[in-house]
Formats: sequence, C-alpha cells, structure tokens
Amino acid sequence: MFLPSRASTTQTYERIHFEVHDREMEHMISRRLGDALNRQLNRELYSAYLYMSMAAYYESIKLKGFSHWMQAQVTEELMHAMKLFEALSQMEVRILMMPIEAPPVNWVSPLRCFEDVLKHEKLVTSLINDLVKMSQNENNANAVNALKWFVNEQKEEEEHASEILEKCRRALDTQALKVLDDELSERPWPMG
Ligand SMILES: [Fe+2]
Ligand SMILES: [Fe+2]
Repeated sequence: MFLPSRASTTQTYERIHFEVHDREMEHMISRRLGDALNRQLNRELYSAYLYMSMAAYYESIKLKGFSHWMQAQVTEELMHAMKLFEALSQMEVRILMMPIEAPPVNWVSPLRCFEDVLKHEKLVTSLINDLVKMSQNENNANAVNALKWFVNEQKEEEEHASEILEKCRRALDTQALKVLDDELSERPWPMG
C-alpha cells in the first residue's frame, strides 16, 4: 500500500485548501467595494428620479418633446440600476435599498434644465471612473468587467446630452435673434 510521506500529505491538503479558497475568492468582494457598488445602484435610481422630475418640469411648460426625451431617459436609468442589481447578485453581494435623494423640482429655463443633464452625467462618469479604480486596486476582475459597460454607456450619455444642449443653445440664439429683429423693426423712420 502506498502511503504518502507526511510532507507530501501536507502539501496535498494545502493545495486542495488553496484550490477551494481560489474558487471562493472568485466570487469574493470586499465590503468596501460591495458598499460602493450598492451606492451606485442608489445613484442610478436617483438619476431616474431626477429625469422624471425634469420630465414633469417640461410637461408644466408644455414642451412635450423634451418631456418625452426625459421619460425615455428615466427608463434608461432604471435599466442601469437593474444591470448593477444583476452584477451585484452575481458577485453575491447583499443588495440593500437606501433612501433616494429628492431631486430639484424647478428650473429657471428649459436651457438651464438641460445644462443640468450634462452636469449630472459628468458627475456620474466621474463616480463610475472612481469605482473602476477601486475595483482595479482590489484586483476584482468581475467588478472591472461589469463596470466596463458603464464606462462606454457614460461616454454615449455625455455625447447625447452635449449634442442636445448645443441644439438648445442654437435654438435659443435664433429666438433671441428674432426678438432683436422685432425690436429693430420698430425704429421710427428719420424725419429728415
Ligand atoms: Fe445611469
Ligand atoms: Fe445617465
């Protein structure tokens, strides 16, 4: 009968222990990173709530197209929250719901409101980038992979927001030009 030496038995146990440990580690995530990703889920829900508030504002000033765009954006943000929900459950993080901050409810002009869209998306991009850095520092490949999608999505979100904001500014310029044009047409004719 073959009996392994004491040394090789110890090595075998250690190897098995480490293999099991490695498998466990695949799903493991630090408390800090888990909490930060949970917080991001809450922020995605805040984004949905913010855009819903903007939709309500545009409704109130009868800009139905803007309201429609904002409502579509609400759906996008809810999808982002669900994507994080899936990623967190795959990483076996206990997902916790937190209170959602109240968004602003009014804006001084349609343009100002859209400026806030871009401002908000830029903030979210920086939060996502911080999460990527945290995941890389903790060597968490699963989290880095899950966040990759969000990095690309933020690029698109910022591009769309700045494109529409630019259109808003140009539309306002045209309106301002029309007002000035009307004003100039009122000039009395010189009497000689
Ligand atoms: Fe989002
Ligand atoms: Fe967004």
